[in-house]
Amino acid sequence: MLYTGILEVPLQGIRQKVRDFVLKNDLFPALDLCCGPGTQAGQLWRRGSPAVGLDINLKMLKYAASRRRQVSFLCADAARTPFRPATFRGIVISFALHEMETEFRARLLSEAKSLLAPDGRLVVVDFERPWDTASRTAYLYVSAVERMAGRSHFRNGRDFFRRGGLRALLRENGLREVERQNIAAGTCAVVLAAPL
Ligand SMILES: C[S@@+](CC[C@H](N)C(=O)[O-])C[C@H]1O[C@@H](n2cnc3c(N)ncnc32)[C@H](O)[C@@H]1O
Repeated sequence: MLYTGILEVPLQGIRQKVRDFVLKNDLFPALDLCCGPGTQAGQLWRRGSPAVGLDINLKMLKYAASRRRQVSFLCADAARTPFRPATFRGIVISFALHEMETEFRARLLSEAKSLLAPDGRLVVVDFERPWDTASRTAYLYVSAVERMAGRSHFRNGRDFFRRGGLRALLRENGLREVERQNIAAGTCAVVLAAPL
């Protein structure tokens, strides 16, 4: 799949940081919301620790399931999942929010918060406004890749940056940052977050 071919190598370090957050905080059972090709969900798996990947794109999920046989995959809308409230200790949302409409981002985060167990955590990866020379350079590359992803994806991504990136989105949706790792080379961040 083209998506996996282009992005998997540059994203390896980020995937590892997400995995580290999940393992360090023992965030199982874990759910990867909008899991795409399942690479991150596959890296969350640990014997005896359930991990589930959810996406709305069945073709993408079939591909994910063919590569990551230990993980369960489910085709559903991330803003209206079939899970009971408080089912997961960890929920990962990686590079999905920026491409969504503003109102939908809020619905998805509201659903994610409701699925979290009382001591659960979100691990969210997404873009931040550039903050130094390295991230400003990375922003040019990110913009070029985003442009290739299609008109609505690009428009929503621009809106995401304009509104203040991941930091602002979490704050506006009642999430506090517990820990963060900024990644200048991707003008993005991996954030461990909890509901306020
Ligand atoms: C840019 S990809 C990110 C994939 C993956 N999280 C990663 O880090 O590689 C965004 C994914 O969100 C999924 N998606 C978009 N809208 C969704 C929705 N309403 N419910 C579930 N998945 C959705 C898309 O099908 C796509 O696989």
